[in-house]
Amino acid sequence: MILGLKIFLDTANVAAIKTYADMGILDGVTTNPTLMAKENKGFLDLASEILQIVSGPVNLEVVSQNTEGMLREAHDLASLAPNVVVKVPMTAEGLVAVRRLHKEGIKTNVTLIFSPNQALLAAKAGANYASPFIGRLDDAGHDGMKIVEETLQIYKNYGLETHVLVASIRHPIHVVTAAKLGAQVATMPPEVLDKMLKHPLTELGLKRFMDDWTKAGLKLPERRTLEAKTRGLAGN
Ligand code: E4P
Repeated sequence: MILGLKIFLDTANVAAIKTYADMGILDGVTTNPTLMAKENKGFLDLASEILQIVSGPVNLEVVSQNTEGMLREAHDLASLAPNVVVKVPMTAEGLVAVRRLHKEGIKTNVTLIFSPNQALLAAKAGANYASPFIGRLDDAGHDGMKIVEETLQIYKNYGLETHVLVASIRHPIHVVTAAKLGAQVATMPPEVLDKMLKHPLTELGLKRFMDDWTKAGLKLPERRTLEAKTRGLAGN
């Protein structure tokens, strides 16, 4: 059963992952070769650090372009931890790999999806997740979210169990729309999650509370004073 929109962080930055994991709002992580390359660490060290922090799905991507290479890499990646999800590109070779991995019980996420037809094929091959890249579609002048809407409709029509993982998210409105459409997962860069967390009126409100409190010279009671007062009240 899915409880609300799952929030994944689209990063390989360990500090960012830790920050949001500590808040209890992080359901998983997606990485890709570009994100792994940004961190200037060896792949294995980085993947292991992430896996130590995140108990939910951690998406690690294969880099081979042929099925045999993808399968070999997928087996290696899946051997790292039971919560590894293997990201496989949306290619003919990728779908063969997904089908084989599905039969072996290895979880997959088909990445680089740009049309509902690609999403349909990923689901038919047995992918656990299908990742439409919303921001990149928007950048190219298309309506990225339309792909999410159509994919969700198609999966519903045929009872396909693949989860729609909305990827390439650029701003908080993408997350709101994904949630309104009923997508199962949204993966976003730390900057987007940070924007979701903050609101200028929260900051303003907090500042006003603190200013008024300080101006009045109020203080919260110390534990000893509080205990004495409680005893006094109980005695009455
Ligand atoms: C998803 O799994 C991808 O890593 C990601 O969302 C790509 O986003 P980008 O278009 O911001 O690179």
